Amino acid sequence: MAKPIFQDGEMRRLARRLEPEAVERLGAAKVQEAEDFRLFRYDTPDSKVDIDLYRRLQTEANKMKIGNQWVPEEHIQLLSAYLRAMGVQVAGGVCHGTRRGNEQVWFRKHLGSQADVFGSEISDNATEFPHTIQWDFHDVDPAWIGQMEMVYSNSWDHAHDPELAFSGWISCLRPGGFLMLDHGWNYQPEWVTAMDPFGISEAGLVAMLNRVGADKGRVVEVIDGGSHKDMPIRTVMFRADR
Ligand SMILES: C[S@@+](CC[C@H](N)C(=O)[O-])C[C@H]1O[C@@H](n2cnc3c(N)ncnc32)[C@H](O)[C@@H]1O
Repeated sequence: MAKPIFQDGEMRRLARRLEPEAVERLGAAKVQEAEDFRLFRYDTPDSKVDIDLYRRLQTEANKMKIGNQWVPEEHIQLLSAYLRAMGVQVAGGVCHGTRRGNEQVWFRKHLGSQADVFGSEISDNATEFPHTIQWDFHDVDPAWIGQMEMVYSNSWDHAHDPELAFSGWISCLRPGGFLMLDHGWNYQPEWVTAMDPFGISEAGLVAMLNRVGADKGRVVEVIDGGSHKDMPIRTVMFRADR
């Protein structure tokens, strides 16, 4: 498979917004490939994560696409109804990678006034949007550990280290709480770019969550969650043991 850096028009547009030195570093990056996943490696020559390059690219991509909304409100309404049907009353929750902040607004609307749901966003415009903090979702605030009835993301394909991100998110769950990750065709390995560095099949994602979260819970089901434009959304439901 070709090195997926500037393979499409969107990525070429993004490259024009970056410094030549950043484009050069991206051009030298490697892509890790396994049976059902691909990971664009933000490595430095001494095998650390090139966090400045990652943050720079994600922030510029966020600003380039700031008018876009990926998840529709109907999907968040459906996830809220699912949580209620499972007997989960959300007091605390977090959505990761939220751009304009809409998913936390919609969770608050559909879960009720007791639901203190906020969002993380890496871009430096994060706090312009409702209930949003500027935060890299690979990091965990110790105050969040074991405090959330729900963690949601449709942006996990932006992770440079998905296992680190997922184990952090699972650590935030209260007993019986849910980690909910959307999946669809655009999360498949062939869609990996520097902007969306991680791609994996649905079965691979389920297996990864079960491995990373083995001591905390397991994937209980994958539900049909409506669609985004022509793409059906499925949501992988990992539940913390009660
Ligand atoms: C595909 S967009 C989805 C936005 C929103 N969830 C929606 O449904 O429209 C991914 C978002 O995740 C943000 N992001 C990327 N990497 C991140 C990280 N490590 N931590 C927090 N946010 C991140 C991007 O800046 C972007 O706004």
